[in-house]
This record gives sequence, C-alpha cells and structure tokens, in this order.
Amino acid sequence: SLSSSPVNATMTLLASALKDTHRRPSTCAELPDNALVLPATNQLIALLTIIRDKNTQRGDFVFTSDRIIRLLVEEGLNHLPITPSTITTPLGLEYEGVTFEGKICGVSIMRAGEAMEAGLRDCCRSVRIGKILIQRDEETAQPKLFYAKLPEDIATRYCLLLDPMLATGGSAMQAIEVLLSHGVKEEKILFLNLVSLNPRSPYTVPSLPNAHVIPDETIDIFSRRIEDRLRKIPQAHHCTLLLWHHLFHLFSLIRQLSEPQITAWVDEGLDEKRYIVPGLGDFGDR
Ligand code: URA
Repeated sequence: SLSSSPVNATMTLLASALKDTHRRPSTCAELPDNALVLPATNQLIALLTIIRDKNTQRGDFVFTSDRIIRLLVEEGLNHLPITPSTITTPLGLEYEGVTFEGKICGVSIMRAGEAMEAGLRDCCRSVRIGKILIQRDEETAQPKLFYAKLPEDIATRYCLLLDPMLATGGSAMQAIEVLLSHGVKEEKILFLNLVSLNPRSPYTVPSLPNAHVIPDETIDIFSRRIEDRLRKIPQAHHCTLLLWHHLFHLFSLIRQLSEPQITAWVDEGLDEKRYIVPGLGDFGDR
C-alpha cells in the first residue's frame, strides 16, 4: 500500500534516506529492513539522556518520555496512506496538499504501553484505543494472553501497537499474533517503541550467575526438537539460546510486517534480569 501512489512512494524513499543518512546507534546494523530508528538528533539524545538518568524524578520522566513518544507517533503517522487533497487558503488561493486515508487505532501492551496512549491522543484526538495484557504464566513460564479489549472493527484499521521497551519480545510477539488473529492485516500494523534491543546483541553477560534465570520450560514458540536440544546444554547457554531464538522469531515476525517497527533507539543487550542495557530501568515503574 505504501508505494501505491507517487506521494507514498516519495515518502518511502524519504524514510529510507533518513534511515541511511542520519546518525544511528552502531547497534542498528543488524535490524530488519523495515525497522526504522528515529534520526539520532541532538534533541533526541538529550531527551533519552534525561529518561535514562536514574536521578530523574517521575514528573520529568513522564514529561520527557511523552516528548519522545510524540516523535514516535508522528513518525508512525508518516506511514499511513494519503491521498491528494486540494483546499483553498484564506487568501483564496488553491493549495494542493494531501489528506490521510483510512482509520487508525492504538493498541497498548499493558501496562507500560498505556503510558504511550496520551502521546497518541495528543496527535490524534479521538483515536480508538485497545489494550492487550500479556503476562508470564506462572505454571508454564510462558507469555500468556490474559486480556484483550480491541475496537470491534479493528480489522479495518491501521493499528499502532504501543510498547515502550522491546526486550526479549515475548509480549510483542504475542500481541502481534493477537492482532493478526483479529483480522488486522500485517501491512497495517505499526509497532512503536522507545528503546529496543539489538537483535544481534550478546544477550548474556559473561558472568551470568547461575542456573535459574529462565526455567527449564521453554517458550512455546520453539519446536519440541529445539526444546529437547536446549535441555541438554548448560543452563547459561540455554538462556542465551532461548533469548536468541525468541528474538530471532520476533524479528522474523516483524520482518513480515510490511509496515515498520519504529523505535527511538536501539540498545546493546540484556542483563541477567532481562532489563535492556544501558536502558532506563523498568519503564512502567518509572
Ligand atoms: N521492560 C522495561 O520496562 N525495561 C526493560 O529494560 C525491559 C523491559
């Protein structure tokens, strides 16, 4: 749909030019082609510096992350289809502009994703917003869908999926699958996040403490065969491989989306508690 009109084609070209020419974190090298990282402007780096700072107070954290979220939403909106629209200015002159085509909605992955709803509403006043709650199932240790409330006509909408931190990608993967199962077309999903993990990062710190970071039950995206193989290898490597496969699957899923994943920054790795590093801690808490 992006290349269906000359205006859209130009926008696509612009987006890829942006991607190639702006300063980007070195961790971007291995991103899927449709992962778009915001230009690393001084402004953005300054905002990220504030929210990464452990001494930043809650009010400043919220204010500053809202500013970054707006940048993400505005970039996301750039990927919606438009049609030519000619209007008349107060001076009686014709102006050949464009108008957005199609309906959108936001879907936040609870709970941290809800923090992005205000930024979306700032840009699209009466936008419909759905919610998805995915949590770790205590019995299986796998991410499980607990709750989904989505606009009934979601299949006809472009869907801005909101999750500030893309770490192991467990909930993101589930959420994308929930949207697909509700009839949302792949090419209509735009996934927005503030900080995402470099999919090729070395996930384990060398001194990964001991055997219990991830329990033996593996995440359900793996085939039995992989699960069995994983059980035979030492737990620290097990953990690395799990995360690796997990991310690999997530990024193949993202690769399938014809619309992009848009992130403000790509960070280096995960610590043993699966926080993104250098990161900014627990986004929901902060
Ligand atoms: N979620 C967070 O809030 N922070 C991380 O670092 C990773 C996931």
